[in-house]
Amino acid sequence: MQRVFSGIQPTGTPQLGNYLGAIRNWVALQQRYDCVFCLVDLHAITVSRTPAQLRGDTLTQAACLLASGIDPEKHILYNQSAVSAHTRLAWIFNCVTRLGWLNRMTQFKEKAGKDRENHSAGLYIYPSLMAADIHAFKATLVPVGDDQRQHLELANDIGEKFNHDYGVAFFPHIEGLIPAEAARVMSLRDGTKKMSKSDISAQSRIELTDSADEIRLKIRRAKTDSDPIPATITELAERPEALNLLSIHAAIVEEKLENVVAHFSGQGFGHVKSALSDALIEKIVPIGDEARRLMHDEAYLVTILRQGAEKARAIAEPIVDEAEKIVGF
Ligand code: ADP
Ligand code: NA
Repeated sequence: MQRVFSGIQPTGTPQLGNYLGAIRNWVALQQRYDCVFCLVDLHAITVSRTPAQLRGDTLTQAACLLASGIDPEKHILYNQSAVSAHTRLAWIFNCVTRLGWLNRMTQFKEKAGKDRENHSAGLYIYPSLMAADIHAFKATLVPVGDDQRQHLELANDIGEKFNHDYGVAFFPHIEGLIPAEAARVMSLRDGTKKMSKSDISAQSRIELTDSADEIRLKIRRAKTDSDPIPATITELAERPEALNLLSIHAAIVEEKLENVVAHFSGQGFGHVKSALSDALIEKIVPIGDEARRLMHDEAYLVTILRQGAEKARAIAEPIVDEAEKIVGF
């Protein structure tokens, strides 16, 4: 059976974009594949985090994934730093990756901005660690949002260069599983920026632990315009905030966007926002309630992650041992 590898950074509480772009697909993939779900705390410290933030966010993230339907018995849920195979393979990959390849990564440029010199070397070589995360499990399927496409291509370049340089057929080709509907959920305050758990404005995103009142308020305050909903998607091209709210509605009720636009056609945003709030509350609040219940049981979460790390080690360590032998260690 093909193996799926997915990672999410423990940096804050998962938001609606994480859920619609990633977590919901992970839950569905469990029916068809062997899945490895990793809380990528090594990636999280590429930007500065306090120890308390990192520990708290790791548990919050675990609770939200379990509450969303990730099954830690049939699949694997663990935190990255508990499995040293990630860093062992990442070092080998740092020596395979060319600087020119890393220089082309747009996410580093976006995150570092003009202040390149003051960012960590870790943030720069992040895509090499991401390649190691996947290849340490010889995973062939990686469900990610559209924002990770370039990093996946690099992971394949690194695997191929390793195979070529050492004359082996060791690391397999990786395929991205990028969902078509709602591949990118945008901020509620600015329809041209992606929704992110690291955005400074909490009003810009719905978090999985938001209450019904918080969801209603954030949607009511979400930026829109005063025009009614048109009949077709193409007429929304110049209205990113309107398009975003309708796309979120389509994704959460699992309908085609064109049908949702046709359904609301002629109505104002007051009506759309109230229908959207209802739909979000129905899907998100039960997940938040369960996540909060789990967050009160820290011992349970710690045990789940420890057991997950044992299962992850059993797969990844022999693969990385073998890679090290190929290198000549
Ligand atoms: P964040 O940007 O919120 O910190 P991560 O980098 O931890 O999110 O990404 C976790 C997963 O969620 C990745 O697969 C990523 O592609 C997906 N993702 C993050 N933000 C969005 C979004 N706004 N829309 C769709 N998918 C997203
Ligand atoms: Na991110």
